[in-house]
Amino acid sequence: MHCIRFQCNKLILISYTHSKPLQHYSNSSQHNNIHNNVTISLLDREYPVDNLTTITPTILSKVDRHLHNQYQHPIEIIKRRIVSYFSHKWVDSNGDPLFKSFDNFSPVVSLEQNFDSLRVPLDHVTRSKSDNYYINNQFMLRAHTSAHQRDTIALGHSQFLVTGDVYRRDEIDTKHYPVFHQMEGVELFTNEELFGNEQGSLFDPLKEETEEKQAEHSLETVLAIEKNLKYKLESLMQHLFGNNLQMRWSGTYFPFTHPSYELEIYWNDKWLEVLGSGVMRQHILVAGGKGSKAGYAFGLGLERLAMILFGIPDIRLFWSKDRRFIDQFINLQENSSLNYKPFSLQPPAMRDMSFWINNGEFEMNDFHEIVRDEGEEWIENVELLDEYQSPETRRKSLCFRITYRCMERTLLGEEIQELHTRITDRLQKEMSVSIR
Ligand code: DAH
Repeated sequence: MHCIRFQCNKLILISYTHSKPLQHYSNSSQHNNIHNNVTISLLDREYPVDNLTTITPTILSKVDRHLHNQYQHPIEIIKRRIVSYFSHKWVDSNGDPLFKSFDNFSPVVSLEQNFDSLRVPLDHVTRSKSDNYYINNQFMLRAHTSAHQRDTIALGHSQFLVTGDVYRRDEIDTKHYPVFHQMEGVELFTNEELFGNEQGSLFDPLKEETEEKQAEHSLETVLAIEKNLKYKLESLMQHLFGNNLQMRWSGTYFPFTHPSYELEIYWNDKWLEVLGSGVMRQHILVAGGKGSKAGYAFGLGLERLAMILFGIPDIRLFWSKDRRFIDQFINLQENSSLNYKPFSLQPPAMRDMSFWINNGEFEMNDFHEIVRDEGEEWIENVELLDEYQSPETRRKSLCFRITYRCMERTLLGEEIQELHTRITDRLQKEMSVSIR
């Protein structure tokens, strides 16, 4: 599941061989029109298209759904439970909440905000064209809510939560959807807030980076911040999943924290990763004008939490407008539990396709994107069944199985066939594959 992806420390050089923008802009939504192939109109602004553009009409049509602000939608319920935990449990001496919650920052961010502000290295795998919805070479749909860390600090906030829709090109299955929701948390401390009256110093005069700490921080800063963040996040998980929850922490890597930690919870006999966190890279605080403090950040995937908590089996259900889904959550009381009851599942239909590719030019996420852009919510799963290389031509052939299933009704044989043909046509046109 893709709640967290930025921990990948692998550096690869990204090849942009297949760099054509996807050119099928016919079914644009009312509010977010793509007028033509030259500009994209999104949230009242026009953006010129260029060779980095990967955004598609299907994705644009999701921008105005705001599931996290739709009252009693399961994503909104999870958001409110987390916000409520922070605002009731963590208050100042007047009883006012310490954490400020934001849930309406625009999902359109600059590449600078999404990557550079966090010092994601230029050749980091998460910048890849095949992983992101780029509007053009300056703007994109945010790939994570961490894109707002520096600017929210610069607005003067030292304790905050940011919830929003995030966008990533990805493979298709019941746990992955190109739009999902995250919540970011940040808390910064002054020397006094962290150490009280005890003697302690946030910063290390020797400025040495080690496995345990960043150059700027003293070791006691890291230990105190680690303790604070682990305590708050463990009690958050108990608030959501109950007091007897088993949890475990492990070390990991993110470009924007050091050290970094992830948390897993034990649920239905499995360990499930629920969040990434760590001591914030000091340059983010410095850039936000708060270089005299030190702090932690964390990121949570809301779909994942909702799927675990309510037993929701397929991530596409969150986008369903079917009352049989929505109504199950309408009257759910604060903090009560619920087990989602599947309404009669429609039968799936499988269709296979095989094609020759030009070796080195085929980008898996571009393939998934075309399937998704044509098929939208009718695609349940795309599976690579077989790979074959011709001994004579050395050309490779791939065979995929696409599972079609609509959540709300049974699809007709000819509807599926027609869609399958449209997908095949576009693959031939846009990815220069030859169907076998
Ligand atoms: N932005 C990360 C992702 O989407 C999640 C994350 C990890 C956020 C660690 C954080 C953090 O703030 O400290 O993969």
